[in-house]
Amino acid sequence: MTSANPPGPPPVPPETQEPALAPVQPTPELPGFPAGMPWPVAPTPDRPLAHLAAKSLLLSAKAAAARQAAAAQKAAAARALAAEPAPIPAAAAPAPPATEKTLEKIAAPAAQAAASAAAGERVPTTEDESTAGDSGAKPIARTGAQPRIIAIANQKGGVGKTTTAVNLATALAACGKRVLIIDLDPQGNATTGLGIEREQRKTGAYELLIDGISLAAATKPTSVPNMWILPTTPDLAGAEIELIDLERREFRLRDALAAGALNYDFVLIDCPPSLTLLTLNAMVAADCVLVPLQCEFYALEGLSQLTKTIERVKKHLNPVLEIQGVVLTMFDKRSSLNEQVASDVRAHFGDRVYDTAIPRNVRMAEAPSHGIPALLYDVRCAGSQAYILLASEVLKRELGRVGRSLSGAA
Ligand SMILES: Nc1ncnc2c1ncn2[C@@H]1O[C@H](COP(=O)(O)OP(=O)(O)O)[C@@H](O)[C@H]1O
Ligand SMILES: [Mg+2]
Repeated sequence: MTSANPPGPPPVPPETQEPALAPVQPTPELPGFPAGMPWPVAPTPDRPLAHLAAKSLLLSAKAAAARQAAAAQKAAAARALAAEPAPIPAAAAPAPPATEKTLEKIAAPAAQAAASAAAGERVPTTEDESTAGDSGAKPIARTGAQPRIIAIANQKGGVGKTTTAVNLATALAACGKRVLIIDLDPQGNATTGLGIEREQRKTGAYELLIDGISLAAATKPTSVPNMWILPTTPDLAGAEIELIDLERREFRLRDALAAGALNYDFVLIDCPPSLTLLTLNAMVAADCVLVPLQCEFYALEGLSQLTKTIERVKKHLNPVLEIQGVVLTMFDKRSSLNEQVASDVRAHFGDRVYDTAIPRNVRMAEAPSHGIPALLYDVRCAGSQAYILLASEVLKRELGRVGRSLSGAA
């Protein structure tokens, strides 16, 4: 209610920002970590977040493997039970899947404390950690700070919106941020790409927007620690039409997030490939728009149409909306057309274009069919590495934004 509660992470004294981190040695300082594991990102002092995120992701990948092993163990036990009707004595029951929790306990404090320190934020307490992402529990209120809501939008299809939403979210989650992905595209690619089972999709974005169910009721955990999803349900395709007659039709998502998203650090909205009511809901709910852009011939024209829409939304519906950044996707530096368009976009949008361009990389396209983010599928591939660097740029920009708003307020 009070205006003295600005959005974004809590203020920090300038001296705690951007600490000069000593390079982390590529040795397994964490118990259980295989010796000689090559670090995917070189540990340099100017890329501490990327390095930490990569490290944390390797541990997440191990956690995913442990989870798969535990599930296989469970399935084997269930099969054995079906074949043998006599109850299994307690002593013979499969051991609880301790590996996952143990790994999280090992990985989370180290990676999170350092990443938070690098981002100049309060280090969460162990009490905060009690709600691990894939435990099935909803996150609990921690700071009372507003989440940063980023709409990932481009009216063109196939430019990398979903891939960016899923992998940027994973990298942010690996840095200890609590992240919610909202799948606002009726095609449901983010939902499928994160391996959300059919029975988990009974409630989702449609029910939230049209039936008014709460965010907490519709949100599901993902296999990535610290990351949740508001899935798409098949009915969402009809929502465009149904929204037209509803009250506050452009504000439905905003209202739902205002009531229920306080527990997250970041909310990333994966928009459909159109500028219709669903995308409008995303832009009205968001603080900013992140635009994935494929460097092809019509890219700039599409971008200017998107910019006009953003300006219109800003003028009439959401005065704080801004372009957070433009990220070049599926970039091929051997293509002269790619290079030419990239330099035109940089000339036009200046430093709003991220330094990191996401390369075209086959592992990125393979990952969704396995139901996991590319960052967990192959953290070493060039595409995953680029998303880790993008996440560190996004965090840096967010830190700059908080710094600017603090100095503006002073
Ligand atoms: N960096 C990349 N390298 C190779 N393929 C990619 C990359 N990014 C996305 N893709 C693939 O391109 C297709 C479109 O990407 P997607 O993220 O679904 O776009 P959008 O959400 O904008 O429609 C998908 O098949 C995806 O797997
Ligand atoms: Mg998509």
